[in-house]
Amino acid sequence: MKQATLHQLKVFEVVARHGSFTRAAEELFITQPTVSMQIKQLTKAVGLPLIEQIGKRLYLTDAGRELLVTCREIFESLDKFEMAVSDFKGLKQGRLRLAAVTTTKYFIPRMLGPFCKLYPGIDIEFKVTNHEGLLERLNENVDDLYILSKLPENFDISYYPFLENPLVVLAPIDHPLTQEKNIPLQRLAGEPFIMREAGSGTRSLVQELFDEHGLKVQVRLELGSNEAIKQAIAGGLGISVLSRHTLGLEGTTNDVAILDVEGFPIRRQWYVIYPAGKKLSIVANTFYQYLLQEAKHFATNLNKTTAIK
Ligand code: PGA
Repeated sequence: MKQATLHQLKVFEVVARHGSFTRAAEELFITQPTVSMQIKQLTKAVGLPLIEQIGKRLYLTDAGRELLVTCREIFESLDKFEMAVSDFKGLKQGRLRLAAVTTTKYFIPRMLGPFCKLYPGIDIEFKVTNHEGLLERLNENVDDLYILSKLPENFDISYYPFLENPLVVLAPIDHPLTQEKNIPLQRLAGEPFIMREAGSGTRSLVQELFDEHGLKVQVRLELGSNEAIKQAIAGGLGISVLSRHTLGLEGTTNDVAILDVEGFPIRRQWYVIYPAGKKLSIVANTFYQYLLQEAKHFATNLNKTTAIK
């Protein structure tokens, strides 16, 4: 391995991430034969195949998977070193890798704006995915920080609850149930329901709630986006349970109504988490502290606007 170069490791990491020589070449602005050559030389240095091609798809061998983990550790250490050097110079510089579940897109980007203004030297990679996608990234140690609402069970993590995440029942604005108070949960079972996709944290919570009460919802439509669900509700296709954050900073909208259902809103929390024992980079730690501070202002604003309505 002493003959392997950092550049070869970088090329390998990009190929492994995309599962494609062509896309790796595009990302790295080099030609595909150069990518192949680098991988060939790295394979020779390791002495075992790293990548297998079956049909058109590329697969990592056991050695390839092990090398990918090593590459990520090496690049993470180098990133941290660079950030430490910037910090010695009195600058906050480097890359923040942040992954969050879909509903957070209603408030995290708003918090990122002022953060970027405060620290212009920090670049951000913000990945939005559903709960299951986020756990995969956590498992592979891809990002610095992860934001979600349901704490993972099989990971040793450090976590901090920073904001409330109330789940509400949404219905079309002219739905007859909007006139009723303290609606029994059973009534929802009779309504056409719009459900998030499998792997969504919101979906698993809704499913658990109905299972606990021995109820079966009539799923009329399954959609992979909160925004699409809101539009489908507004279009009269059915009701759903979503985070109140999907209604924006105001927490209300003229398109859909929040139903007064017993047991709702379900009070959950947003957590910022990272693998236990992982030493956060200077940049990640800066964002972590910022998030906890900013969330307090955000919650106060949210409560103010919803109290006025
Ligand atoms: P989801 O996660 O985007 O996967 O539904 C949201 C949540 O867990 O509250």
